[in-house]
Amino acid sequence: MRPITVNTLARRKQAGEPITCLTAYDASFAALLDRCGVDVILVGDSLGMVVQGHPTTLPVTIDDMCYHVANVARVTHNAMIMADLPFLGDADAPTALQQSGALLRAGAHMVKVECGLAELPIVERLVAAGIPVCAHLGLTPQAVHRMGGYRVQGRDPHAAAEMESLAARLEAAGAQGLLLESVPEELADAIVRATDIPVIGIGASPRCDGQVLVIQDVIGLTPEPPRFARDFLGDGGSLEGAVRAYCEAVRARTFPESGVHTYR
Ligand code: KIV
Repeated sequence: MRPITVNTLARRKQAGEPITCLTAYDASFAALLDRCGVDVILVGDSLGMVVQGHPTTLPVTIDDMCYHVANVARVTHNAMIMADLPFLGDADAPTALQQSGALLRAGAHMVKVECGLAELPIVERLVAAGIPVCAHLGLTPQAVHRMGGYRVQGRDPHAAAEMESLAARLEAAGAQGLLLESVPEELADAIVRATDIPVIGIGASPRCDGQVLVIQDVIGLTPEPPRFARDFLGDGGSLEGAVRAYCEAVRARTFPESGVHTYR
């Protein structure tokens, strides 16, 4: 198998073949995901919650991120590794460049940046430096306190129009992927149609170009899972079976289910 690159993801969008993505933070789970053919392993700052036990992602540092990326990278042979720029890692361009560089040196292939309008010039600068960027829109957990909680974003027409415009501007700025979290299905569909770069969804739409979940939600480890999650351990019967069942469901577009794991 040839390693997955940004070109593979772009081709998948063109061909209408869904991209599979799951989080991993350590070598054991990364090896499992890689063996099961997951396309993208996300070393998310969700590790602040599921590994470190914090209530939010805000305490996660760049050193934490690099440590987990390195653990994942050591055993990953085919999947593409995407890593989160942690809270305030995008406070200014020099910080974003320095921290993204550290993530790539630790073994990441792409950096995910939680984006609002303020991050547009940062994305441009990272792209100019040769760093592949996935722009995370919608519910951006690092802004949990500004949003007043983990709430669906883009429900009112003005906010939806702003998100569509931001997605277009991020694509023009050179982002090579978008990740949409907790947005109404109709808005996700509009963004998927309007952009030529792959759009990975979580709580977005079955018609996104790919799907992502936190691995703990897939294997029934989350006490109160979010609406957009599904426990695949029952279907799969083992950890490997659960990951394979998730990948099959994403590729067959039977997960997520419209109206069940998505929002209006
Ligand atoms: O940090 C993370 O795991 C994420 C996913 C929830 C998309 O950003």
